[in-house]
Amino acid sequence: MRFEDVHTIGVLGGGVMGGGIGQVMAVAGYEVVIRDLTEELNEKTRHTIVETRFGLKRAVERNKLAADDLEPTIDRIQFTTEVSGLAHVDMVIEAIPEKLELKQQAFAELDTVVKPEAIFTSNTSGFVIADIARDVSDTRKASMAGMHFASPVPAMKMCEVITMPETTEETAAAVRAVAERAGKIVSMVKDAPGTYGFILNRVFAAARREADKIVEAGLATKEDVDKAMIHGRNWPVGFYASRGTRTGWLD
Ligand SMILES: NC(=O)c1ccc[n+]([C@@H]2O[C@H](COP(=O)([O-])OP(=O)(O)OC[C@H]3O[C@@H](n4cnc5c(N)ncnc54)[C@H](O)[C@@H]3O)[C@@H](O)[C@H]2O)c1
Repeated sequence: MRFEDVHTIGVLGGGVMGGGIGQVMAVAGYEVVIRDLTEELNEKTRHTIVETRFGLKRAVERNKLAADDLEPTIDRIQFTTEVSGLAHVDMVIEAIPEKLELKQQAFAELDTVVKPEAIFTSNTSGFVIADIARDVSDTRKASMAGMHFASPVPAMKMCEVITMPETTEETAAAVRAVAERAGKIVSMVKDAPGTYGFILNRVFAAARREADKIVEAGLATKEDVDKAMIHGRNWPVGFYASRGTRTGWLD
């Protein structure tokens, strides 16, 4: 499927990431369908999208979204508890918990339910996309890629687009263009069997390993490591301070 043919986006999992992804896609003008397991979870996601700190009403208050666009944007986001509610979408962005088996099962089911030409993407923090795609048909693999956003999605610009050898250029270009239409800055990266993480989390994990080695060897305190990175590299937070341990750093 080409970028121009993507009009409706299905988001599997409406948690921290899925809600934010659905929100930015609706702001970008896409019709969005979010699928979570229960009505209660969907209601929680809807509330987060509309009412909370990175949500749509705050975006209007901060002049990031025109007041006239608020209701139409909210109306573009539908919710479902059924996988069949995603049958018609042009592209799926999966954001369910980071468990390989769960993702493999979810994509195998989506493959049978969602129209054959639809693009499949996963917002995995680091699983190899080919592993996630293990039980997906070969035809669909041509339309499958990774799409790794950073949290909170409405505020963070990064999106890594991960391609498998099977991913067609048309699919890679479409996924990239959808992310860019949603205001993201895209880094392209190839899937690498036997690894965990793409650019962001691999580079960060390497730095973290070095920091731990310095602390464990007694060469510097955690505080001094944090101070060096914050004041020498302009990092917003360090590895060890309470703010620096928020999960977003490693996702
Ligand atoms: N939180 C982060 O900072 C962050 C950043 C980048 C990537 N990620 C990745 O994004 C994915 C989601 O993370 P999260 O933090 O949003 O998790 P989360 O727990 O907040 O949300 C996951 C949602 O998926 C739902 N779910 C579970 N099984 C489902 C299914 N079969 N169908 C539909 N919905 C289902 C859950 O009910 C839950 O609402 C993970 O792969 C994670 O590694 C997370």
